[in-house]
Amino acid sequence: MSKNKNNKPVWSTRIKKKSSNLFTKVGSSLNIDKRLYKQDIKASTVHVEMLFKKKIIPLQVKNKIVWGLKKIFNEISRKKFTFNNQAEDIHMSIEKRLFELVGEDAGFIHTARSRNDQVLVDFKLWMMEASEDIIKEINTTINLIIKIAEKNIFTIMPSFTHLKNAQPISFAHYILAYVEMLNRDRKRFINNKDQLLENPLGVAAVAGTSFDIDRQYTTNKLKFKNPTGNSIDTVSDRDFVLDFLYSISVCSNHISRFAEEFILWNSDAFDLIKLKDKVVTGSSIMPQKKNPDTLEYLRGKTGNVYGNLFSMLTILKGLPLSYFKDLQDDKELAFKSFDQIKISLQLMREILNNFIINKKKMIKLAETGYTTATDLADYIVREYKYPFRKAYLITSKIVNLAEKKGKTLNQLTINEIKFVDKKLNEDALKLLNIENSVKSKKSYGGTSFENIKKMIKKYKKHV
Ligand code: ARG
Repeated sequence: MSKNKNNKPVWSTRIKKKSSNLFTKVGSSLNIDKRLYKQDIKASTVHVEMLFKKKIIPLQVKNKIVWGLKKIFNEISRKKFTFNNQAEDIHMSIEKRLFELVGEDAGFIHTARSRNDQVLVDFKLWMMEASEDIIKEINTTINLIIKIAEKNIFTIMPSFTHLKNAQPISFAHYILAYVEMLNRDRKRFINNKDQLLENPLGVAAVAGTSFDIDRQYTTNKLKFKNPTGNSIDTVSDRDFVLDFLYSISVCSNHISRFAEEFILWNSDAFDLIKLKDKVVTGSSIMPQKKNPDTLEYLRGKTGNVYGNLFSMLTILKGLPLSYFKDLQDDKELAFKSFDQIKISLQLMREILNNFIINKKKMIKLAETGYTTATDLADYIVREYKYPFRKAYLITSKIVNLAEKKGKTLNQLTINEIKFVDKKLNEDALKLLNIENSVKSKKSYGGTSFENIKKMIKKYKKHV
């Protein structure tokens, strides 16, 4: 904690005994929240400027404090600042140094504010920037996926439901599904800004302040939209932290699903893709191994990110209004999730830049498992005006027959299919290839090559 000139914490005037050493150590958040120094100095500077403007402090005091804060900013930026582990947090460390630099006048800085609103203003300013950072990472990832999709419009593979071969699709269509997910992730971070743009500075400890402050002034200077409306809610509220942690969790979930699919496809059993050496690791005993550890890392770390969200939810559960020490952990959780999602998005791109598509195997697998059966049923509905259920039944009989004869659907002879339904002719079989199947899915959002080209154009406009 910060000491006054008698080398005691500033709040220690009524607390006569020295605090427990153990608690002083574990209760300090300095090592975590020193990351907020820029925001802290910026908000403090605007705060004292407002105090001066409202004639709450004189010009000369304001100038001294602003000068001191600038100097501290330079010291910290140039790594010339000694962080004293006895300090409770970054706010106390800066205040203590300000006392050393400008003397007793430093004490004016805390007029009409509390650490409760100070910590929130710093944290929200940080989170605005952090959200922008994540949005940039998401955009870069989206651009890379679009590039891969453009090169693979005509790469055919099977789609899966229940991990069983379902219908032929284009690999571009598959990978563009992740563009949709990342677009939603981006929107989540954009939407979160509404809450982040409410300025907490000036609510002080819990009740507001008796000084005639101008919250609109600090709101404008710090680029918030409005001051928060209720002082009690403001110091209690950590919804914006939940939103942030949730948005990161969902994005991480998407990355994890991608990782899991690529692990499967890179397996010897699937063999649909091959990871390049840059993103695999070896085994200490089995010389032949090339393991997809990078993907497993992405999948695993998603658990940690969920953990951070759950920690925050649990901290808030049943916590009375307003500020409690419990809340101090909010920053560590947000910083950890932020650092992780940035690494995860970057690593996902490394993987996307380092894999080879096994096109032959994709086609072979797309042709396995009667993946064009639905096309045959659709054809029967269209040509013979049968209800879909009847066409479905006929098609399942044809699939049974093919299975019995060990043939694919388009290897069946006309006589064999006429045996199932007299009306059927060669056209039905001629149409049955995986390329036609993909081409035919022209409904909006479907996998047809034409649709994919249109969607790529649309995505490019929005990044
Ligand atoms: N280090 C504390 C935190 O980050 C600062 C708030 C302290 N407020 C208080 N009333 N003790 O939450």
